[in-house]
Amino acid sequence: MLFKNIYNFAGKFREVSLMKDQTRFCEPQFIEEQLNKISKDINEEETWGSMEQAAAQLAYYKTELNMIHPFREGNGRTIRLVIREIAKSMGYSWHFEIIEKTEYLEAMISSQTDTSELEKLFLKSLTETAS
Ligand SMILES: Nc1ncnc2c1ncn2[C@@H]1O[C@H](COP(=O)(O)OP(=O)(O)OP(=O)(O)O)[C@@H](O)[C@H]1O
Ligand SMILES: [Mg+2]
Repeated sequence: MLFKNIYNFAGKFREVSLMKDQTRFCEPQFIEEQLNKISKDINEEETWGSMEQAAAQLAYYKTELNMIHPFREGNGRTIRLVIREIAKSMGYSWHFEIIEKTEYLEAMISSQTDTSELEKLFLKSLTETAS
């Protein structure tokens, strides 16, 4: 939807390898299989007992989806929406617009080896949804 009038690859999984700076993302032949695995885990989530657990799980899913990087362009925007929907379904609102861009990017780069910076960003941008 995001790029349907701009790119002929819009909405399709990548068929090319992709790097950003020092990061090499999932090779195209593994994208679908990896997405299926992570989707299964997401669908099997039951409840999160605390904000800390919510932040840890969301940081994990955000990192995994980013490393899969399914599309040639628009992964950041689409994954943020997906993560916001996962949070919502678990009773949390994710206010990603309050996160500063440079700290977001640093957290995404470091998440490859350690998700703690990203977890901190989630902790300060999540609220419990009123029920
Ligand atoms: N060096 C890096 N290592 C790991 N992940 C990165 C790196 N640089 C950017 N990212 C991640 O990739 C995303 C950008 O991917 P892409 O350009 O496909 O999407 P986008 O929608 O244009 O991104 P955005 O709106 O976040 O700028 C960022 O949101 C971030 O999560
Ligand atoms: Mg981009």
